[in-house]
Amino acid sequence: MKRITALGLLCAAALATAGPPDLRRAGRIEGDAAAGAAKVAVCVACHGPEGNSVVPAFPALAGQRAAYLYQSLAGFQRRADPASPMTAQVKDLSDADLRNIAAYFASRPRTPAAPATAAGSGEGARLFREGDSARGIPPCQGCHGAVAGGHPLAGTAPRYDYYPALAAQHSDYLIARLGHYRDGRIADTSNAQIMRGVAHNLDDAAIRALAEWLAATPR
Ligand code: HEC
Ligand code: HEC
Repeated sequence: MKRITALGLLCAAALATAGPPDLRRAGRIEGDAAAGAAKVAVCVACHGPEGNSVVPAFPALAGQRAAYLYQSLAGFQRRADPASPMTAQVKDLSDADLRNIAAYFASRPRTPAAPATAAGSGEGARLFREGDSARGIPPCQGCHGAVAGGHPLAGTAPRYDYYPALAAQHSDYLIARLGHYRDGRIADTSNAQIMRGVAHNLDDAAIRALAEWLAATPR
């Protein structure tokens, strides 16, 4: 009886401290891209050849950071949200499958999501580089890199590989995703919490300007 109680207390303590996955302490993600390639026939139906999607609601995956892709897939498994089309896709995949698939898409070249515009111009470029301190918007480049290819410190410590590249992504997808961070709909990792704080101060016009500039920024 005593043992059961002790065990119960231990479980309660574990749950109380569980919280969202802390990606600051996450490790390196390695996978076998060739093994991953054998698993993606179903994925490319929506995400496009080699992960270069043609439908703007489906995010492009080609050239994305492997660690970011891996934790994103693990998140779809963990949340098992019946409203997400991704839930059924990841349900039967093993952890090794997720690593291999992430390695595969990370290794593919990204093709542009929109015709390249005059880089460096417009409100989206300004917000990305400088933010807007009067509105509490931080510069995006501090975490996503000067040309939105990922964290400037990626490769120096595993945690920075969990910051996604944003350039050449579909604007429709970026708009939806930033809206989800702002609404608090995606908040179940330490990294999602960071973006929740960032998106909190973005209005619809700022989101649109950023998304359109990012889509037209080549990788
Ligand atoms: C029926 C269409 C469909 C299929 C098939 C599909 N996906 Fe997705 N995927 C989506 C949609 C829509 C989203 C964005 C919606 C969301 O976040 O819930 C998404 C999001 C993702 C993301 C998140 C990208 C990011 O930038 O955060 C990853 C990674 C992903 N899918 C990988 C896969 C893999 C791997 C497979 C195959 C095992 C797959 N998808 C199959 C539609 C699909
Ligand atoms: C303090 C660091 C930080 C800053 C500043 C920041 N981000 Fe992020 N961003 C992140 C992290 C970490 C993630 C990964 C979140 C996750 O795993 O869900 C992310 C994810 C994203 C995603 C999701 C990408 C995908 O493929 O689904 C978008 C879009 C995004 N950020 C846009 C922006 C924009 C636009 C700005 C500037 C207004 C910005 N971020 C500023 C850290 C930051």
